[in-house]
Amino acid sequence: MNSPKTFHVKSFGCQMNVYDGARMAELLEAEGMSAASDGGTADLVVLNTCHIREKAAEKVYSNIGRLKREDGTRPMIAVAGCVAQAEGAEIQRRARSVDIVVGPQAYHRLPALIGDAAAGRPALDTDMPIQSKFGALPARRRQGPSAFLTVQEGCDKFCTYCVVPYTRGAEISRPWSAIVDEARALVDMGAREITLLGQNVNAWTGEDDKGRMQGLDGLIRALDALPGLARIRYTTSHPNDMTEGLIRAHAEVEKLMPFLHLPVQSGSDRILKAMNRSHSAASYMAVIDRVRAARPNIALSGDFIVGFPGETDAEFEQTLEIVTAVNYAQAYSFKYSPRPGTPAAEMSEQIAPEVMDERLQRLQALLTRQTLSFNQTSVGGRTSVLLERKGKRPGQLIGKSPWLQSVHLETGAAIGDLIEVEIVSAGSNSLGGAHVMEQAA
Ligand code: 5AD
Ligand code: SF4
Repeated sequence: MNSPKTFHVKSFGCQMNVYDGARMAELLEAEGMSAASDGGTADLVVLNTCHIREKAAEKVYSNIGRLKREDGTRPMIAVAGCVAQAEGAEIQRRARSVDIVVGPQAYHRLPALIGDAAAGRPALDTDMPIQSKFGALPARRRQGPSAFLTVQEGCDKFCTYCVVPYTRGAEISRPWSAIVDEARALVDMGAREITLLGQNVNAWTGEDDKGRMQGLDGLIRALDALPGLARIRYTTSHPNDMTEGLIRAHAEVEKLMPFLHLPVQSGSDRILKAMNRSHSAASYMAVIDRVRAARPNIALSGDFIVGFPGETDAEFEQTLEIVTAVNYAQAYSFKYSPRPGTPAAEMSEQIAPEVMDERLQRLQALLTRQTLSFNQTSVGGRTSVLLERKGKRPGQLIGKSPWLQSVHLETGAAIGDLIEVEIVSAGSNSLGGAHVMEQAA
């Protein structure tokens, strides 16, 4: 197979995968390759995969099948990300057209793996080297007005349903200076908003440039001092790592957006214990109360799993109760999916699919009602919107409110502008707005 000249990276799953996908693209460009507009024409297609639920993991195989072209040829295919880590060589046994398998901690070695594949040598790397990949990656390139920045990776919490500790490895925090330098570079290239990412982002710790130990709040305050940066966000957090300092940052740092994604997973203490979540429904509610006291207008988001092994009707009702008590602005909810190698997959009392379906429908109906009513309270008010991309209609742009709502509007302003918008309509997925023009003095 010839050495590829053009590439296409397709990312699935979480925002950390989106970040990794961007860094792989930067790496391949630094090697002299150029981005193809889509997978149909690229010489190399990188499928950056997700293993969190079975459905997500299976997507990789249907995508591989679709890469075959009408003339019988196909691109060089690399499977990256969490499926690569979890399934390793098994992928090439199941899908013979896969040339490269590379895990999420080894993708800085992609150029060498491409060389191996082009020479017909086996190309598989699922190492988790001690030396972090970040030091071996080229400098950041322009990312648009809203950029992701991974500050922490991996997880030591071992929730019994979750593959992340196995696919992403042990919890590590990137060093302070690497993060601040990367943030500065992103801002210099036009980023107005940075979202700090980590599987357990609020567990980030490190020494600052003066040798003092800092938590995520210290990092947020350092980014607050970057001129040109308008908005800071972070995701995903664990309830047990919501420190007093981080909660105080929500009260004090204006650039820190009033939004918190704080998964609870279940409202039942017995299920939370079986999940090894190390918090209870009451301790989660206590965190929510403290966050709301610090930042009363904060929008809350969460993740939920229905049908964890052994979950009774009454325990599921407790999940509905906690949702009602919190009143989320938005949330993600999933049917439990047994993942190979995790303790919950071995538990007896797996829940029947039709029971899961019914529970998920009820939970999602409640969450959608909450999101719609949260969005409706925005109507008639004014808010700042960061314009991020073009909409479907001519002249239409789409941006984000401080509460992470998508706002659609027609405006002559440019992508990257932070503008004042009057909200005129609300649905459960987005808001409609009108650009408020400054009055001439
Ligand atoms: N089954 C279903 N949902 C899961 N999640 C993680 N593992 C599983 C699983 N095995 C959900 C959790 C987590 C989100 C990223 O995905 O809610 O917070
Ligand atoms: Fe999916 Fe988790 Fe991997 Fe992200 S880290 S891609 S959510 S398995």
